[in-house]
Amino acid sequence: MAEILEIRGLTKTFAADVQALKEVDITVNRGEFLVLLGLSGSGKSTLLRCLNRLIEPTSGDIYFDQQRTTDLQGAELRAIRRKFGMVYQQFNLINNLSVLVNVISGNLGRMGFWQSVFPLRNKELVSRAKENIARVGLSDFTHTRVKNLSGGQQQRVAIARALMQEPEVILADEPVASLDPATADTVMQYLGKLNKEDGITIICSLHFLSLARKYGSRVVALKNGELVFSGTPDMIDETRFQAIYGEDAQEVEIR
Ligand SMILES: Nc1ncnc2c1ncn2[C@@H]1O[C@H](COP(=O)(O)OP(=O)(O)OP(=O)(O)O)[C@@H](O)[C@H]1O
Ligand SMILES: [Mg+2]
Repeated sequence: MAEILEIRGLTKTFAADVQALKEVDITVNRGEFLVLLGLSGSGKSTLLRCLNRLIEPTSGDIYFDQQRTTDLQGAELRAIRRKFGMVYQQFNLINNLSVLVNVISGNLGRMGFWQSVFPLRNKELVSRAKENIARVGLSDFTHTRVKNLSGGQQQRVAIARALMQEPEVILADEPVASLDPATADTVMQYLGKLNKEDGITIICSLHFLSLARKYGSRVVALKNGELVFSGTPDMIDETRFQAIYGEDAQEVEIR
């Protein structure tokens, strides 16, 4: 499999005593569904945000399709950022606006000023937004205000919004952490579908090992900013589980 991302010696120091990432090396292959595990504070969000340079690494390098992204600026940096769609735990939608307008807003980074003022006049944009809304099963809610949707439906809107920039990678930072287990599973199924049917590479941080097992083609785990595991989900036995979550952790509590 061809690699899409190469992370080498990635280190992020926020303050002398806050080393969020320590010399992390990860290779991500195109088409993988990579699950990122680790306790709160282990560095998951920092890692995801370093990938599209929302956070500047302190040292180390990231290569996207063999292009070093570390020093890119201006138009080149924006071009790299567009390859990543982001999905967050707190959906980050505009609650008073419709599903359609929220999804279209995912394209704002690519639009000129007038287009962004009157986005609904752009037929091509509207039809692309509707396609993406259909891909997450929300066609019946196209004109519904986001605040009237359930949490799971809102997260699917956020996924449709991320699709507007036609990303090669979706970075999902605990996308199901605020959802109940059944709804979480539905949202994960949509991410799984985009991964399988569209070949979009997914990097997704999760708290639940059960979801990592079900959806991940590979798992990497961080502990105190260090990479402590990389392998297939079925390789996580009790010993490895404790290496990731600490000796006192019991699997039943994390599920
Ligand atoms: N902007 C910041 N300034 C200072 N310290 C930060 C900043 N962002 C993160 N940190 C620290 O870096 C470490 C890693 O944080 P990070 O948010 O990446 O962890 P996480 O694994 O995403 O945790 P969670 O599961 O709670 O979201 C923590 O010690 C955190 O306090
Ligand atoms: Mg986080």
